[in-house]
Amino acid sequence: MEFAEKLSRLKVYPAADGYALGPEVALMASNETPYPPLPAVREAVAEALNGVNRYPDPSNTRLRKALSDRYGVPANRIAIGNGSCDILLAAGDALLEPGAEVIYAWPSFSVYPHLAAASGARALQIPLNADHEHDLEAMLAEITVATRLVIVCNPNNPTSTALPLDEIADFVARVPRHAAVILDEAYCEFNLLDDPDASVALLDRFPNLVLLRTFSKAYGLCGLRVGYGLCGSADFRAAVDAVRQPFYCNVAAQAAAIAALRSQDEIAVRVETNLAERLALADGLERMGIKPADSQANFVWFDLPAGEDAESAVVQGLSARRILVRAGASLGRPGALRVTVGTAADNERFLAALGELV
Ligand SMILES: Cc1ncc(COP(=O)(O)O)c(C=O)c1O
Repeated sequence: MEFAEKLSRLKVYPAADGYALGPEVALMASNETPYPPLPAVREAVAEALNGVNRYPDPSNTRLRKALSDRYGVPANRIAIGNGSCDILLAAGDALLEPGAEVIYAWPSFSVYPHLAAASGARALQIPLNADHEHDLEAMLAEITVATRLVIVCNPNNPTSTALPLDEIADFVARVPRHAAVILDEAYCEFNLLDDPDASVALLDRFPNLVLLRTFSKAYGLCGLRVGYGLCGSADFRAAVDAVRQPFYCNVAAQAAAIAALRSQDEIAVRVETNLAERLALADGLERMGIKPADSQANFVWFDLPAGEDAESAVVQGLSARRILVRAGASLGRPGALRVTVGTAADNERFLAALGELV
């Protein structure tokens, strides 16, 4: 068989292992929520299963209406996806081609490099600054007539850092309108710098802006795969719909997302618990002499004291103790670790194990 040339450019996504290891494993590698699904979500999914002999609503009508009611964004400017990754990849398909350019920071979300590799566009990876934050001036300096897409991940995965919204707004105002800006806010609910919903107002000013969000993190639905994009214009939504198969969001995911959106009080309690655990995790690291980056997400990021040489021994030592974290080498910074905030018990186990290993 002869495969497409692009296949040689596509890297395999660095998926965490451990899914088959059983319940006593502390899964702290994929920025998931450690809490089980809410009762309302379980009920909605159980109900939706009665209808799986039918295709899902390809227009996602009820989910888009629920999101439109919540955010005040017209339904025709709301894109739905099989996870927010689906919208990201569709944006790559819809915007990029050989000769076009995409700009994003690095290290950042490991799916971004896929967009250029799949389309043949040129990727400009702009190094983060010394505080592990986006260098927005350096990103702006790279914009040309060929730039079709600029991605800003706020809070940034894997570094957990966030920039204040006024800096982001100033940046978007300076991006020429021929380039789309995706503000990837997968972790916005955990960000204490700004109200997670404050960025929505930017959509009225910038038709080239898309806020990419997900039900995978704070809402705890990553196993069902559903994400959304709040778009500054209906054109972006139409474009990402045009390049995908029609039934990209399954019936259970649509129902679960609507139920989760209605459960804001329970979600807020979970986010608060997660924030308290994040502080406890950061304190524990600092007691060990490790200074994590300023986290605004549901994970922490830090350089190991012994650097690059220690990384694989620490990751393997943790794994031998049935604690899974993400090694920096797979994320663009050898010698660093990304650790998802777990339950209090997970976090204590992790800190005790790391103390033995460093
Ligand atoms: C920054 C960022 N964006 C998007 C995603 C994609 O999430 P999903 O496809 O589950 O919505 C993730 C998942 O880890 C992420 O870290």
